[in-house]
Amino acid sequence: MKTLVIVSHPYPEQSKAIQALEQAARQVEGVEVRNLETLYGHDTFAFDVAAEQKASEAADRIVFLFPIHWFNLTPMLKGYLNQVWGYGWAFGPGGAALKGKAMQVVVTAGATDHLYAPQGLIQSTIEDVLTPMKASALYVGMTYRKPLAFLGAMGLRDDKLAELQSTFGELLQPGQ
Ligand SMILES: Cc1cc2nc3c(=O)[nH]c(=O)nc-3n(C[C@H](O)[C@H](O)[C@H](O)COP(=O)(O)O)c2cc1C
Repeated sequence: MKTLVIVSHPYPEQSKAIQALEQAARQVEGVEVRNLETLYGHDTFAFDVAAEQKASEAADRIVFLFPIHWFNLTPMLKGYLNQVWGYGWAFGPGGAALKGKAMQVVVTAGATDHLYAPQGLIQSTIEDVLTPMKASALYVGMTYRKPLAFLGAMGLRDDKLAELQSTFGELLQPGQ
């Protein structure tokens, strides 16, 4: 199974958790890692659409790795969906390039499961927050894997970051 990891973080210089997870992904053989801000800066229209589509076509599993900011996708990840998942490629007449592939969302979030609870302040789980990714996956015929969410992922010590890396590294193994 071939895995593509699409990483996005709007403030790479401040990132600890996503950066550690990206590093872990780069250690796994056979995994292609594409960091949207590294490749395209912060320009939500700058994508090399053909290159991105080709990378997705070659993968069986597409992993999206990003931090939760205001209970949402990052701007570059939203731009990626807008620009790369085009009509006629991902959906519409003749467009089924992603059909049958798996989507795996992996996020970090500052808050803990006290906040991400149906009875909590935001009355939403992390799965609820990620509904746009689930809907997008199902809309284009992908299978949607249970998201991997690292909650309370702020100010983590190195040993905890290493734990996150190991969990993510395992998920990226070909058989997973
Ligand atoms: C602008 C901004 C908005 C944030 N919004 C949320 C949020 O809505 N929910 C949450 O749990 N954490 C929120 N956080 C915390 C981040 O999710 C957390 O710092 C990040 O996932 C840790 O990964 P990093 O070290 O790679 O940045 C926010 C952080 C920033 C900077």
